[in-house]
Amino acid sequence: MCGIVGYIGNNDTKEVLLNGLEKLEYRGYDSAGIATLNDNGVNLFKVKGRIAALRERVDDTNHATMGIGHTRWATHGAPSEENAHPHQSASGRFTLVHNGVIENFNEIKAEYLSDVTLASETDTEIIVQLIEVLNEQYNDVLEAFRESVALLKGSYAIALIDRNDQETIYVAKNKSPLLVGLGDNFNVVASDSMATLKETDQYLEINDKEIVIVKRDNVKIQDLNGVAITREPFTAEIDATDIEKGTYPHFMLKEIDEQPFVMRNIIQEYQDEQDEIKLDPSVRQAMLDSDRVYIIAAGTSYHAGLVGKQFIEKLANVPVEVHIASEFSYNMPLLSEKPLFVFISQSGETADSRSVLVKIKELGHPALTITNVPGSTLSREANYTLHLHAGPEIAVASTKAYTAQIAVLAILAVDTAKAKGIDLDFDPLQELGIVASAMEALTDQKETFEQMARDYFATSRNAFFIGRGMDYFVVQEAALKLKEISYIQAEGFAGGELKHGTIALIEEGTPVVAISTQENVNYSIRGNVQEVEARGANSCVVSLEGLNQENDSFILPHVHELLTPLVSVVPMQLLAYYAALHRECDVDKPRNLAKSVTVE
Ligand code: M6R
Repeated sequence: MCGIVGYIGNNDTKEVLLNGLEKLEYRGYDSAGIATLNDNGVNLFKVKGRIAALRERVDDTNHATMGIGHTRWATHGAPSEENAHPHQSASGRFTLVHNGVIENFNEIKAEYLSDVTLASETDTEIIVQLIEVLNEQYNDVLEAFRESVALLKGSYAIALIDRNDQETIYVAKNKSPLLVGLGDNFNVVASDSMATLKETDQYLEINDKEIVIVKRDNVKIQDLNGVAITREPFTAEIDATDIEKGTYPHFMLKEIDEQPFVMRNIIQEYQDEQDEIKLDPSVRQAMLDSDRVYIIAAGTSYHAGLVGKQFIEKLANVPVEVHIASEFSYNMPLLSEKPLFVFISQSGETADSRSVLVKIKELGHPALTITNVPGSTLSREANYTLHLHAGPEIAVASTKAYTAQIAVLAILAVDTAKAKGIDLDFDPLQELGIVASAMEALTDQKETFEQMARDYFATSRNAFFIGRGMDYFVVQEAALKLKEISYIQAEGFAGGELKHGTIALIEEGTPVVAISTQENVNYSIRGNVQEVEARGANSCVVSLEGLNQENDSFILPHVHELLTPLVSVVPMQLLAYYAALHRECDVDKPRNLAKSVTVE
C-alpha cells in the first residue's frame, strides 16, 4: 500500500526511481509520480494509473542525480493527478512523498496553514506546506523538518527534497515501513528492499520517530532531539530472480507452482540433524508458559490461523482463539492469565495487526510473529519470530504464504506437544514431504482447473463454497481468492449453515463448490450438496482420495487428514486464477487492493 523510492548518487535518477516503483507495484496503487532535482530545479511528473503511463510522461532529456518517487493508494482524496505524490510546498521549494495517514492534518491546517491554499485533497500536502512555513520561521531546513515531524500524529514514512540543496534527502518514519539502502557513492530510500535490490543489498533499518539525513556519500540517523544514532546495516537476503516472473505470465501462477518447493524449504529449515523439529527454544518456552494462544491476523493469514487453531488445540492441548486484527483492536475480549499472542502476517506490515501488537505490548503480554519478512515491523516489535521461508510473494492474492503459514503452525503445534510430553503419531516434517509431492501432482493438472473455471465461473455473478470442519476453513479462503481477483461475489460457508439462510440464494445454475476431505463429515457435506442440487445449483465436489464418490469433479491425492488444507487449497487457488484470467482481470494487481495493508 503506497511505495516510496528515493535516490541520490551519480546515475540517471529517473531510471532508478521508475525501476524501483515498478518493483513496488505489487503493493497496490492507483497513481504514481516522481520528482528529480538538477540545476534547472525540480522536474515533477505525476499520473493517475500505472507506472507504464508515468514512464511515457517522464521527460527523457532532463538528467538528474537525485530524486524521490511514489506509488499512491488513495486514502484522503480520490485517485487523481492532483492527489498523486510528490506534493510541493506553495513556493515549490520543498517536494515530498509520504506513506501512511496523518491523523491530525485538520488541526495542523487550522493552526499553521490558514494562509496557505492547498492544491490537493491529501493529508500529505499539509506536511510539505508545514515544513515550508516552519522553515520561514527557523531558516534551517533540518530544524523545520524535525519540528514538523514532531507535530505529526499518525503513521508516516516521508522523503523530502529541497530545491536549494542537491546533496540531501530528508527521511523520517513512524509505523509505516521505510529503509535506507547504502551504496558506493550513492544511497537509496525505499519502502521495501525489493525496490532497490538492483542497486544494493545493504540496508539500514529506520526506527519510528527517527530522522535520517541521506547524502550521496553518507547517511546520518538522529532522534527527534537531534541526538546521533549509530546502527549497523543488514544484508537483504532476497535473490533478485525471486522477484522476477521469469517465463510465467503472472506472479500468482508462479507462486502457486512454488508451493512444493516452499514445503521442502520449510522442512529443511525446521529440521535438525537427527531429523527432529528444530525450533527456537525461546518460542517453545513461550508456548509452554502460556495458558491460551491468541492468534491475530487479517485476510488469508486469518484463514491460516483458523487451521492453526485446530493443530494447537488437537495436538498440543492448548486453547486457542483466532481473531481478526481490526476487530480485536477495538473490541478486546477478556484475556486469560497468561496469554501468548501469535501474529500471522505474510508481509509483517499489516497496520491492523500492528495496532493490536502495540496494545498488547502495553499490557505486557508476549508476542510471536509468524511472517515471511523477518525484518518487518511485526517481526521486529514482537518478542519472537518464526520465518515462513516462502520467498517473496508478489501477487496481491496470497497463495504460497498461506500454505507456508499452515506448515509452520503444524510444526509449532507438534513441537509444543512434544515439549509437553504428549506422545504423537504424527511427524509433520515427514508428512509435509508427502504434501509437497501431492501439491506437485495438482499443479501438473492446470488444464483440468482451467476447464473447471470455465465451466463454473465463466459467466456467473456469484459463487458459493461449502465445507465442514477443516474444509470450512479452506472454503473461506477459496471464496476470498475468487472474489479478490475475479470480482465474482463469492462466499465460503459451513455446509450445515446453508439451510439457515443462504440456501435462499441458490437458483438455477448457481455455482457451488464443495470440499470433502474429512471422514467424519463426508456424509454430511454430501447431503448439503444434494440440497443445493435440488434447487438447481451447478455443483462440484472436490474430495480426498479414499473419501471420493462417483461423479466427484476432482480427487485430491491422499495426505494426512490434518494437513488436507495444504492440498485442497491448491485447486481453489487455480480455479480463482483461471476464472480471473477468463474474465480478463488484472490477476496480480486486482482493483482497489494492496499487497501490504499499511493503514488501519
Ligand atoms: O501481510 P498479511 O498476511 O498480514 O496480509 C493480510 C491480508 O491483507 C492478506 O492476506 C490479504 O487478505 C490477501 N490479499 C489475500 O489474498
